[in-house]
Amino acid sequence: MKRVLFICLGNICRSPLAEGVFLHKAQQQGVDGMFQVDSCGLGDWHVGGPPDPRMQKTAASHGVMLPSRARQITAADFDGFDHLICMDQRNLTGLQELGAPADKVRLLLSYAPHLGVTEVPDPYYGGEDGFEEVFRLVEVACDALLADLQS
Ligand code: 4NP
Repeated sequence: MKRVLFICLGNICRSPLAEGVFLHKAQQQGVDGMFQVDSCGLGDWHVGGPPDPRMQKTAASHGVMLPSRARQITAADFDGFDHLICMDQRNLTGLQELGAPADKVRLLLSYAPHLGVTEVPDPYYGGEDGFEEVFRLVEVACDALLADLQS
């Protein structure tokens, strides 16, 4: 079993989307049994809450449901997961400051260098277009991550 944790700032936009998309793709490929997947945030503002309605709407328009509830990362996650996949440089720095094992931490978009973008932008304070762009980036990168973890 490979244990994958997706991490962003609030755990209501990008990382619950990555969790949902990754699981959806794994199920489509019949390999979901190989993975334990979860998401969390560096911050605690939205703990216990559902994903942002705008993120849920965008995901649903692509056939992906987001059932997760927000939680904050804990030190136990550093042992509990094999891959700590974060969305932007700020997340990466935050994880380093918390003492996350460097060999487990990676930016999600590092799996899809052909996108020419290194960070999944935070859509929280922007418009609807931002959520669609986040979906596009996350979908491409989750395809690549899923392939990488099976190779
Ligand atoms: P996320 O977006 O990190 O993709 O979940 C954010 C959601 C909420 C906040 C920041 C980013 N916030 O400051 O409340």
